[in-house]
Formats: sequence, structure tokens, C-alpha cells
Amino acid sequence: MKSKKTISGFSKLSKIDKIKWIVKHFFTEPDVVMHELKSYWLADDEQQRVLDGFSENTISNYYMPYGVAPNFVINGQTYCVPMVIEESSVVAAASAAAKFWMDKGGFKAEVIDTQKVGQVHFSWNGDFQKLKSVFEELENALREETTHITANMQKRGGGILNIELIDYTAAEEDYYQLKATFETCDSMGANFINSVLEQFGRTLTSFVATHSVFNDSERDLTVIMAILSNYTPDCLVRVWVECPIEKLGNFPEGMDAKTFAEKFCKAVQIAQIDPYRATTHNKGIFNGIDSLVLATANDFRAIEACGHTYAARDGQYRSLSNCSVENGRFKFWMDLPLAVGTVGGLTKLHPIAKRSLELLGNPSAKELMGIIAVVGLAQNFSALRSLITTGIQKGHMKMHLLNILNHLNATDAQVEKVVTHFEDKLVSFTAVREYLATISTSEKMTIS
Ligand code: MEV
Repeated sequence: MKSKKTISGFSKLSKIDKIKWIVKHFFTEPDVVMHELKSYWLADDEQQRVLDGFSENTISNYYMPYGVAPNFVINGQTYCVPMVIEESSVVAAASAAAKFWMDKGGFKAEVIDTQKVGQVHFSWNGDFQKLKSVFEELENALREETTHITANMQKRGGGILNIELIDYTAAEEDYYQLKATFETCDSMGANFINSVLEQFGRTLTSFVATHSVFNDSERDLTVIMAILSNYTPDCLVRVWVECPIEKLGNFPEGMDAKTFAEKFCKAVQIAQIDPYRATTHNKGIFNGIDSLVLATANDFRAIEACGHTYAARDGQYRSLSNCSVENGRFKFWMDLPLAVGTVGGLTKLHPIAKRSLELLGNPSAKELMGIIAVVGLAQNFSALRSLITTGIQKGHMKMHLLNILNHLNATDAQVEKVVTHFEDKLVSFTAVREYLATISTSEKMTIS
């Protein structure tokens, strides 16, 4: 029997009918849920239409906090960084690191390269030496037959950089690849690259079908897929902070600068050698990176996937950041591949993303690569600073206190009392609930 919870033609329903169907079949309080989902629609219909257009089957909006971390000095310029994140402490940690490094020379960023990658994967049962011998001709055809796609990008200074033919038959029968690199200037370039690659696939197929060097048994080539690679190790930015050790100052629990620097480097080294620690260490880096990537409507899944592959580039998953204490200097740095854009995609369509870019001074994609990586490094610095001194729970739970109080439906007056009470105490859900209960009881006693 067909379940009542399945439907055909759902995407064709109006938004309100979609909601009606959902609340009827999946919720116990349909009217309440219907009201709630609608309450998160934007008041301006046109703005809501723009947002709905980013996806499909939209029924409401999912809100996330939009915060800012000021005081980021990068290459001598000051930025106030927008961050979209739902986790307590992340914006506070970024802001703290920005302030810490502000009077120690700030952060430095240098873009090493900006190449993107795309591949045409194909199956072919022909003589590879023949294909190699006519590769120059093939490359000319690939470039010529994509000029209608590449002309604009070329005017902006980008386009196809290099095309390579790779024989993968040792790993997989009949499997070959066209691997191309691209310069996409200020755009992330996914649509541009994929359009070029799909044309490459068509050109390649007809080239092999018609070229006189091949015999009849070699004319049949199957394009398996044509798609960009999100692994862009040559779209790389380097970011760093450094200062004389004594300039680091003193730290909680009476820790001096030298002890701090050494313990900090040890913590980074542990993340270099142990994948369990490296995963958490890098997750902290992505707390910062993802929040700015999201705030600028860039593709955080692509950025994450690439970063994690890069972290495992020598065969073992390792820390993305590095640290040294040498000749009396503390240095903390990271190389990170980041394929982002400041034009195209949703960057200018999403109203808040557009404001994020404006807040950052409408940076070029290269400048944005630096800012994003710096926020990741800053996040990592703050996390390690807490971990090797006080531990993270003290600060984290303090930030989380308001979430707990919201959960327990505390009144404004109770919030004030609880926050004051926990200023010098360890926050936990149970401790807060118990203290709130004592306040409520004493409030009741006062009233009666
Ligand atoms: C929490 O979201 C991130 C940290 O666990 C990162 C780390 O351990 O380095 C604090």
C-alpha cells in the first residue's frame, strides 16, 4: 500500500499547498506549525522570491545568526569580518585573536596561485600513442570550440590555462582523463568551468570519431563525466602571524610567554601527527572559515572538501596550520587552497552576502582568499590558546549560558541574576537549572 507520506507532483504545488500537505502529514499541531513556518517568511514578497529562487521546494527560511568580528588587521589594512555561525564562542574567539594580533603587526596574507581544475573522464579502447601524437591538434580544437564560452573570461584576464591528457589505464581499464586548469579571476568559476568541460567532452568525442589517425575500431569514445574538481591545491593562499616571543605577553593561569609559545607549538605538532586531534584542530579552523564563506554566499561545502583533501595531501590527514619557535620568534602560519568568488554565483544576489562584501570593502577574490584564511588561522589561535591554558569549557559554557536560559524560559530578571551568579563559577546545564529553581522559589516566596 502506498504511504500517505509520499506524493507525486509536490514541486508543482504552490508554496502554501506544499506547507498544507507537510503539516497535515508530518505534524501533530498543523495550524501551529503552519503559522510558525509562515512567520519566518520575509515581509517583502520580492525579497522572499529572490531567496526562494536559490533553491527548490522552499517553504520557509532557516535563520542563522549574522555577527561581526572587528579589528582584523591584514597586510596593514583593517577589516570588520562578517560571520554566519550558530556555535557559541566562534565570533568571540575570532574577535579575541584579531585584537591580540592587532598591536603585534597583525596578520599577513599572500596569494601563491589561483588556478582552478576541471576534468573530462572518458573510456576509450584505442591506441593511446596515436591520441598522444595528435594531442596538439586536439588541444587546438578544444580551445577553438570553446571560444564562445571563454571569450568574456579572456577579456577579464582569465580562461583556459593548460590542458593535459592522462593515461589511467594502469588503475582502471580503458580510463583516460583530460585535466585542464583555469583562471577564473574574481569568480569562483564553477559554471564557466563546467560549461567548458562539457564542450570539451563533445569536441573530444567527435575528434576521435573523425580523425584519420584512428581506425574504425577506435572511433568509439565514451565520456563518463565532465566536471570541475573541488580540489584546487594551486589556488593557494598563505597566511601567518609572527612576533618576538616576549611580545606575546602573559597568559591565564600565570603562564609566561615562553611556556605559552612552546606549549602552543606542541599542540600544533600533535595535530600534525595524530589524525584524531588533526580533525578537531582543523574543524576549529573551519569554524572561522565557513562562517565567512557563508556570509559571502560562497560554497562552504567545496571549501571544506578541498581543505580536508589538502590536509591529507601526503597520505595522512594532518593539521592545516603550522607553528615554529625559532631564534626568539613565534611564528604561526597556514597554507590553504580556497576557490572563492566575489562576483557571480549568489555573491551579489543574496542581499546580506552583498552587504558582507561591502563591509569588507568589496575585495577581489584574491583579497577575500586572504581574509578567509586569516579568520581560520585566528580561530585556530584562539582555540589553542584556550585549550593550553584554561581549557575551552569555561569560556564556551559562559557563552552558551544564554542558550541554556532561553531553553529554560528564564525571564529577563532571572537572566540578569543567573549571569551575575555564574560570573566566577563553572556553567553547566544542571547547575543553571538548579540555581534558576532556587531563584524561582525565592521569587514565589517574596510574592506570597
Ligand atoms: C570547537 O568547535 C572547536 C575546537 O574543538 C577546536 C579545537 O579543539 O582546536 C575548540
